[in-house]
Amino acid sequence: MTMPSPQPIRNLRAIVAMDPTGTVGAGGQLPWHLPEDLRLFRSLTLGHTIVVGRRTFDSIGGPLPGRDCWLLTRRELPVQFRESVRIFSGLDSLLPAIREASTERQLWVIGGAEVYRQLVPYCAEIVQTALRKSYAGDVRWQVPENFSRREILLNTKEFVTYRWRRNGIAEVETDPL
Ligand SMILES: NC(=O)c1ccc[n+]([C@@H]2O[C@H](COP(=O)([O-])OP(=O)(O)OC[C@H]3O[C@@H](n4cnc5c(N)ncnc54)[C@H](OP(=O)(O)O)[C@@H]3O)[C@@H](O)[C@H]2O)c1
Repeated sequence: MTMPSPQPIRNLRAIVAMDPTGTVGAGGQLPWHLPEDLRLFRSLTLGHTIVVGRRTFDSIGGPLPGRDCWLLTRRELPVQFRESVRIFSGLDSLLPAIREASTERQLWVIGGAEVYRQLVPYCAEIVQTALRKSYAGDVRWQVPENFSRREILLNTKEFVTYRWRRNGIAEVETDPL
């Protein structure tokens, strides 16, 4: 028996870059360096809240400037980050906080794969950068089948970035990008 999909949360989006095989990470890092994609990531997430898994947080090295950082971890956070990062030890506390905040601001799930798997089922949209080349990697993820591709946000020599929308919800229910 398949479980019904959770109700999508308004203004909750995921942002991801992946190669044609679904590779998103290698050795705890991104397998590529694409400044144009990083600029798009920055412009879309700046001023909003990012939701991040601890391994990705470690790979970034700390909270990203200009964004509220919500971190999923079951561990203690190093002292230097305790004032600038809001910690959640599970979905039981994170999901109600996301639901409450999403009435007035945008929230972005920025990965990694373990966090996409748990939170994308609640997302209204995904911004996916689809790389043209394949890379070696050890972390994979795929856009779920109940999302449909909408417009292209960016098209370059190295990648195409798409907006995906969860099926069955009206565009007007979400603030524009
Ligand atoms: N291509 C992209 O767009 C993209 C984006 C982001 C990351 N990445 C890559 O993805 C890789 C990391 O992904 P990953 O899947 O290994 O790890 P991750 O999702 O970044 O982090 C996993 C960690 O998050 C915490 N966590 C997850 N679910 C939790 C829950 N329900 N409750 C409490 N804590 C929870 C745990 O931290 P604790 O162990 O501390 O408890 C867990 O070990 C890296 O290579 C990174 O560079 C790629």
